[in-house]
Amino acid sequence: MTNQVSVRVPGKINLQLSVGPLQRDGYHELATVFQSVSLFDELTISETDTDGIEIAAIGKSTIPIGGENLAYKAAELMCNKFDIETGLLIKIKKEIPIAGGMAGGSANAGATIVGIDSLFSLGLKRDEMERIGSEIGADVPFTISGGTAIGTGRGDQVTPVLSRGSYNWVLALSTSGLSTPAVYKECDRLREGLDISKPHVSDSLLQALTHGDAKTLGKALSNDLQAAACSLKPALRLILDVGIDYGALGGIVSGSGPTVAFLAESEDHALDLVVALTSSGVVGNVIRVAGPVPGARVISNT
Ligand code: C5P
Repeated sequence: MTNQVSVRVPGKINLQLSVGPLQRDGYHELATVFQSVSLFDELTISETDTDGIEIAAIGKSTIPIGGENLAYKAAELMCNKFDIETGLLIKIKKEIPIAGGMAGGSANAGATIVGIDSLFSLGLKRDEMERIGSEIGADVPFTISGGTAIGTGRGDQVTPVLSRGSYNWVLALSTSGLSTPAVYKECDRLREGLDISKPHVSDSLLQALTHGDAKTLGKALSNDLQAAACSLKPALRLILDVGIDYGALGGIVSGSGPTVAFLAESEDHALDLVVALTSSGVVGNVIRVAGPVPGARVISNT
């Protein structure tokens, strides 16, 4: 029987995304607070007799299956680093929206690193896997650790944050995505001529997390990319307004968008929000998730 491993990996939202000025390397210095939420992709990685890496989508998803797929890049990197010579088939069952601002592609890279570590018994520590992940993309390291964490640098230097309790989120998912580089570019355009200060994480947000205080957290949510995402997709403003009108404790575009995350007071409140947002007609797909949840985890290894 072929060796095979399955990994489950969650998407993330950013509770805060503070974006510094554009740097010479084309990136922005960030101070961000990530939270993993219970919307999962599942990857099954198996050894094959043929050469090379093959990506296959399970279900109706339209992910790229070539070298631009971040799972492919992660597999290639792991094979090179650890002299793995067998072929690999990576099947991806996607629930995290593509180009949705929830690190869906990065999560697939994180899951691939964790999966290959397990499949070949490499014995890598979590921080070693995160370091490898940072070679693929800024959001990859967080997808490996998950939970609630501060990201600095490009967002790739991850430190866990004390977070009490579980939060009820309602996600408004868009049918079409936004390109992350395009949103950063629009952010630079909107801020042209302004003096941009060093990014920082707000104390009130961290305190809200420490105390498990959803009301304060709702007020502290902030995203420097939100104006840019709304500029490229004006419908997002309406979605944000509707969620707040229906009593969300706070609402925010996640990362570079276009997913919008609303914080609810309780599970029941989240259910009410789902119904209200769905019947408002401004958004097609509304789901309820909880956070934080752990990052990429092996669910079977045979
Ligand atoms: O690292 P990753 O490939 O996920 O980043 C995608 C793009 O997002 C970068 O090419 C850059 O345009 C933008 N980005 C940025 N500053 C960051 C992270 C990402 O400008 N800290």
